Amino acid sequence: MKSYRIGLIGLGGMSHSHIRWMAEEGRYEIVAVSDVNEAALTEKGEQLGIAAGKRYGDFVQLIEDPDVDAVVSVTPNNVHADIVRACLKVGKPFLAEKPFTRVFEEAEELLKLFEQQPIDGMVGFSYRYTPAFRYARELVREGKLGTVRSFSLQYLQGWGAAANHTPYIWRFNKAITGTGTLGDLGSHMIDMARFLFGEFKELSAQMRTLVPERPDPATGQMVKIEVDDFVSFQARMSGDEVGIFQSSRNAIGSGNQHEVSIYGDIGTLHASTLNPDQIVWIREEAPGQLAKAVIDVPEHCKVSQYGDFLSLLDGTASESLPGFMDGYRNQEVLDAVIRSSEEKRTIDL
Ligand SMILES: NC(=O)c1ccc[n+]([C@@H]2O[C@H](COP(=O)([O-])OP(=O)(O)OC[C@H]3O[C@@H](n4cnc5c(N)ncnc54)[C@H](O)[C@@H]3O)[C@@H](O)[C@H]2O)c1
Repeated sequence: MKSYRIGLIGLGGMSHSHIRWMAEEGRYEIVAVSDVNEAALTEKGEQLGIAAGKRYGDFVQLIEDPDVDAVVSVTPNNVHADIVRACLKVGKPFLAEKPFTRVFEEAEELLKLFEQQPIDGMVGFSYRYTPAFRYARELVREGKLGTVRSFSLQYLQGWGAAANHTPYIWRFNKAITGTGTLGDLGSHMIDMARFLFGEFKELSAQMRTLVPERPDPATGQMVKIEVDDFVSFQARMSGDEVGIFQSSRNAIGSGNQHEVSIYGDIGTLHASTLNPDQIVWIREEAPGQLAKAVIDVPEHCKVSQYGDFLSLLDGTASESLPGFMDGYRNQEVLDAVIRSSEEKRTIDL
């Protein structure tokens, strides 16, 4: 089986997971790295045994390097579009972290380039690879819940709560991120709704900044926060399923709590990252007789993100892979949430 030579851009926190996932999968060799932080470039370059000439301060040089077969991008949101654009320019496959872009206008510009010269691209909607979510999708598609009428999705974390005195980092800087919890966690919820039920038809939303200022770690001065740390919205999907969504960075004790409840005519299903290898399924066993079961996810629902990226590179990708258009559509829904919140009205998609 062919192995792929990877150029890795962005060597911060999340890159550790990507490096580990590639190693676990095999068939990947990281041959070049890029970061604007020289210390990170040297440290990670040494750790990974990357030759000095393959450690790039400028990611364009890495993308254009003929020794790089495919690009993995793990940078802050303001760089996402520039990296995808550079990949489109030279026709190089990529796996790029979410959100797809910082703002929708960037996604629109990338779509025009993609339509002229499509390339293999994957967006880091990693929860498609949570076994419980994948099994939930299968059961919904097999009609095991009957017609699905409604659902709720939430993605909660607690690290930003006021009690944690979280300092002002790039995730609160609108110029870098575009939005706060919406693009960070909400993009995953939106992708999960699309993965499970298809496209969004309409939505109405509210975005809030519950912790209005945070201390600059360098100066200790308080900085006004311009991005949301709480968002909620309700939506109608293409099959007329109605859903409610909430995401927060201030939900103390939630850990990394991304979960869905799905309500159909003959059953209910719960799936959560807090218990990723099981689902809870409530169904009518006989008329008027409900049975509640905690069910282990079958092995075939345990697909890895980097296994799927290999299938994309091999040319055998499945329909469930989060590709370029999933990134674009996700950004379109994020933009609708922003507009709905700002204009206080329902947005049609
Ligand atoms: N899929 C997931 O579940 C998940 C989880 C966490 C983070 N992420 C995404 O991963 C991305 C990175 O997050 P992180 O936590 O690793 O951030 P981080 O701040 O820890 O690391 C980002 C790295 O990118 C580097 N960088 C910045 N600008 C660059 C440029 N122009 N060229 C090259 N390198 C540059 C920084 O110096 C830093 O080393 C974000 O987009 C985030 O949304 C995804």
